[in-house]
Amino acid sequence: MNTFHKLSILILSIVFLIVGTNALLSEPIVMDQNTGFQLQWEIDNGTITFAVSANVQAWIAIGWHTYGDTQPKAMVGADFVVATFGGQANVQVWDMVSTPGGGPPPINDTSSAVNGTYDILSYSGFQTSDYSYFIFSRKLVTGDKAGDNDIVVGPAGLDVVWAHGSSNDWAGHGYGNAGRQTIDLGTGSTPPQQPDWFGYHVGFMFFTFAVLMPFGIFVARYLKESHMWWFPIHIFVQVLGLIFTIIGLAMALKMVGGISMATNHAILGTTTLCLFYISIFLGATSHFMWNPQREKTPLFPDIIHWIGGRLTLVFGFVTIILGMLLAQISQGIIVVFGITFASYFVIFGYIEFYKWKWPTKPDGYHLVNGSF
Ligand code: HEM
Ligand SMILES: *[C@@H]1O[C@H](CO)[C@@H](O)[C@H](O)[C@H]1NC(C)=O
Ligand SMILES: *[C@@H]1O[C@H](CO)[C@@H](O)[C@H](O)[C@H]1NC(C)=O
Ligand SMILES: *[C@@H]1O[C@H](CO)[C@@H](O)[C@H](O)[C@H]1NC(C)=O
Repeated sequence: MNTFHKLSILILSIVFLIVGTNALLSEPIVMDQNTGFQLQWEIDNGTITFAVSANVQAWIAIGWHTYGDTQPKAMVGADFVVATFGGQANVQVWDMVSTPGGGPPPINDTSSAVNGTYDILSYSGFQTSDYSYFIFSRKLVTGDKAGDNDIVVGPAGLDVVWAHGSSNDWAGHGYGNAGRQTIDLGTGSTPPQQPDWFGYHVGFMFFTFAVLMPFGIFVARYLKESHMWWFPIHIFVQVLGLIFTIIGLAMALKMVGGISMATNHAILGTTTLCLFYISIFLGATSHFMWNPQREKTPLFPDIIHWIGGRLTLVFGFVTIILGMLLAQISQGIIVVFGITFASYFVIFGYIEFYKWKWPTKPDGYHLVNGSF
């Protein structure tokens, strides 16, 4: 191929690229992994066309807030477009808005509580037994002040809400069937809308229960006889864990937007934290009740503290695994964590066995300070 040919192909490609990108719907943005709820759009001469689909047989809808709005409640102050289905090709698309002065449910722009106008220019759609799709156009700025929010293309993005029903009946979507995502309509990018609560939750909790706690227990159980510093280290480690879990819990509450016991991870996590705090309290109690004259370790609080601490460790591990499954973290990480967790128990078990088999064997090589 000669240079002229190469050059003309290059120029043609660039021309197609420029012309082509103007005439296409955007790359789809997946709003929800579970249902493959996705959104595409195209803006042309002041008119926006949205294509919305999900792997559900139910009503599907999107909505958006005004440009730069920081309204924390997803359903307050939003402009909605809802598709309901009455059979395969029988789609109806409604121009709706948040109930004035409140949030859910959305109501028709044309209802007498709003007195807005119907501003969907055209629409189409279809549904199968496991898929629903609709496409519609409207002006970016409709002029309907009562019923619509202007759509603005800019770096702050469009604050989009999405939802699908659990059936074709127009009724509430229920927990987990709705969400929110800011999209820059110009670039198609989705800037993270809020701080990384999830990442911090995982970090603080994982470090506490996978690293700090096992270490703190190890120090208290096995270094007590040989190292005077076991006690301050034990206290320091568990108090650090206490602080970390309080932060981790706050992050979890931020992440799900309040207290929710909807998953096994949440239920077991709460149980683990209760056990942890009770164990810390019992540990403090045993410290203050300690009596050098005592002949044997009392059941309360000392031995209960020991049992509580070990239970917390086991509960913590199971909670972490449940959390990993919930977040659908890659299998490799879960397996390696599981093996690490199992090796902790092998190590603890081995030391217990060793201590039981050779309780005070005067083997100078193994001694740290020359005495037990
Ligand atoms: C019959 C219709 C609907 C009812 C009864 C309803 C009801 C509710 C309720 C009670 C909440 C939780 C409380 C709150 O955040 O204020 C909520 C949250 C939410 N709704 Fe709706 N809603 C409806 C339709 C829609 C539609 C059409 C969309 C979007 C297109 C939507 C998007 C959301 C979002 C993003 C949330 C917050 C996230 C979540 O709770 O999972 N809703 N809705
Ligand atoms: C763009 O929109 C305006 C008004 O909405 C209309 O008058 C004009 O013909 C449109 N231009 C094209 C190229 O469609
Ligand atoms: C919206 O308006 C249409 C047509 O008037 C009506 O059939 C429908 O039930 C209304 N929807 C709601 C949620 O009020
Ligand atoms: C809408 O219009 C009707 C009839 O004109 C009126 O009764 C109602 O109060 C209006 N609603 C609002 C919110 O303005």
